[in-house]
Amino acid sequence: MEISGLSAIVTGGASGLGEATARCLAKAGAKVTIFDMNGEQGPKIATDIKGHFEQVDVASAENVEAALDSAAARHGDARILVNCAGIAIGEKTVGRDNIPHDLDRFKKVVEVNLVGTFNVIRLTTARMAALAPLETAERGVVINTASVAAIEGQVGQVAYSASKGGIVGITLPIARDLAGLGIRVCTIAPGLFLTPMMKGLPEDVQQSLGASVPFPNRLGNPDEYASLARHICENAMLNGEVIRLDGAIRMAPR
Ligand SMILES: NC(=O)c1ccc[n+]([C@@H]2O[C@H](COP(=O)([O-])OP(=O)(O)OC[C@H]3O[C@@H](n4cnc5c(N)ncnc54)[C@H](O)[C@@H]3O)[C@@H](O)[C@H]2O)c1
Repeated sequence: MEISGLSAIVTGGASGLGEATARCLAKAGAKVTIFDMNGEQGPKIATDIKGHFEQVDVASAENVEAALDSAAARHGDARILVNCAGIAIGEKTVGRDNIPHDLDRFKKVVEVNLVGTFNVIRLTTARMAALAPLETAERGVVINTASVAAIEGQVGQVAYSASKGGIVGITLPIARDLAGLGIRVCTIAPGLFLTPMMKGLPEDVQQSLGASVPFPNRLGNPDEYASLARHICENAMLNGEVIRLDGAIRMAPR
């Protein structure tokens, strides 16, 4: 799919992997709308890339519907959706003093990462379905963000791994559901990337995390994620697949 001139939505576009993707797609000529909770950074980035910002909780049906209306009024309905919004917590199934994992915190992570991703997919692709097919017979493309923690969740990552494993699990059935409409669906499972989340860690911790990546022996750059997202948009044969982007890392138990 030729990106230039198409309308795109990037959730979580106010930071990290989503920000890099919003910038990359805008550079490729897309009209980008950022959906993010962060009402401070989001509008600044949107102005920078001559795009648009909507303050959205991806898990809210009402929020997303209203934001899609508003984005469509400016840019037309989206043919590209990149889901990067996400949160992470660290908590064990049974913690210190035998305290069980807090159930609301578990639900919250699944709600934002998995339910939120599906919510934006279902509402956005329902509108994509009404668009005319492009010359390539494609109507659009959806890119989700899982994590290597979907497969090798570490100690304390049970909630995060559940949410990301869910994203891996929905990739193929959604691709199959939408195949007749000419809408492709892929998921990127990143390893360790240098985003604001990581930059908050002490320098020595960042270095040791980077050193644990076989090759290249460093943390990933968000532009490398964005460049894969762009390639997925452009390569019509990529569909129904989960792609690890991780420098061959396989996470240890802790
Ligand atoms: N950075 C990494 O190493 C890494 C590795 C694997 C997977 N991931 C995944 O990649 C995605 C992006 O991560 P990042 O490192 O760029 O994180 P980040 O914290 O820099 O960015 C996440 C963005 O999502 C937004 N967000 C959070 N909850 C939201 C909600 N309910 N509605 C709308 N927006 C919301 C935040 O405001 C933020 O702007 C996440 O899904 C994360 O789980 C990151």
